[in-house]
Amino acid sequence: MLVIGGGIIGLVTAWRAAARGLRTAVVDPEPGGGAARVAAGMLAAVTELHYGEQTLLGLNLASARRYPQFVAELEEASGQAVGHRVCGTLAVALDADDRAHLRELHALQLRSGLESEWLSGRECRRLEPMLAPGVRGGLRVDGDHQVDPRRLAGALLAACERAGVVFHRTWAERLTVTAGRATGAELADGSRPAAGRVVLAGGSHSGRLAGVPREALPPVRPVKGQVLRLRLPDVPRGSPAFLSRTVRAVVRGGPLYLVPRENGELVVGATSEELGWDTTVTAGGVYELLRDAHELVPGITELPLVETCAGLRPTSPDNAPLLGQSSLPGLLLATGHFRNGVLLTPVTGDAMAEVLATGQLPEEARPFSPLRFADAAPVAAVSARVPQEQPV
Ligand code: GLY
Repeated sequence: MLVIGGGIIGLVTAWRAAARGLRTAVVDPEPGGGAARVAAGMLAAVTELHYGEQTLLGLNLASARRYPQFVAELEEASGQAVGHRVCGTLAVALDADDRAHLRELHALQLRSGLESEWLSGRECRRLEPMLAPGVRGGLRVDGDHQVDPRRLAGALLAACERAGVVFHRTWAERLTVTAGRATGAELADGSRPAAGRVVLAGGSHSGRLAGVPREALPPVRPVKGQVLRLRLPDVPRGSPAFLSRTVRAVVRGGPLYLVPRENGELVVGATSEELGWDTTVTAGGVYELLRDAHELVPGITELPLVETCAGLRPTSPDNAPLLGQSSLPGLLLATGHFRNGVLLTPVTGDAMAEVLATGQLPEEARPFSPLRFADAAPVAAVSARVPQEQPV
């Protein structure tokens, strides 16, 4: 079995498939890279709930429930910690419009049977004293946690290596199709690994692999996200942290989040831009993130800014992933995770291993079959190179 794309989705597929006894190889010039290098790692099934995404909510919750066990297994298999923090999330409103928006989100969460508590502005600031005095209220969601995606990717890579997964550290140039079936790939180093099944996990580039028949190409497109990394101040043991949990807000209609990591990093994200495969960090993107984050938590301007970066969310027409058999025999897809790549990593690994081992997707993953887009035209022209997987 050959996985094209060595981001977290390709790696978790390979690791879980190898654990089921399948001989597995991954093609990627830099496995463990991709959008996990940029992602904030929020496990935000409840605070990132959107209208019309009830089916996706079921998958998100299934994956969130699986996270503690998944982390324990991965840390054991890799010998590496992944920075899973059970810290909860606070979503706050800065003005009357934000407050109305949050009230609607709260109602939707309650209708969906989710746990979320409305707090006054004062109660929000009691939980997080660094919040701006003007905060008008918020939602306390104790079930939305975080993981460090860079460490997650590193651990998945180590677990794959320990499980005997073979790595082709080069580009996939073209899918090999023989007698109407995917049978391997042509790689940039000239090699042509053959495989009984090929899994395309190329993130936002998944719709661009040469050789894939038009009707089997996944309709994914990139949505750029720019992200900042700041360094949190050291606080003496026993003193309150700068922020103790993930803090989110909708500022001027756009989502903003601050994710304080246990390693002292504060991740601030993210822009949402439809600009093709451009990953330039722009002055405007950095300015908007800092301006909005400063409105939310004025003290951030004192913190060192240590990194700016941009990644691409692989986005499908219904914002949900494509998992399982494509319309081309032998070709399976694991892509289109949009905002939820990190959250959906455990459930994706399990679903892909199951379909590879038995031919059947588990019940919870069946609504996400790529065949739901069988008539959709691909969004991009075919080009040769499929770099690493890119979900933020
Ligand atoms: N899930 C966070 C983002 O996509 O920005």
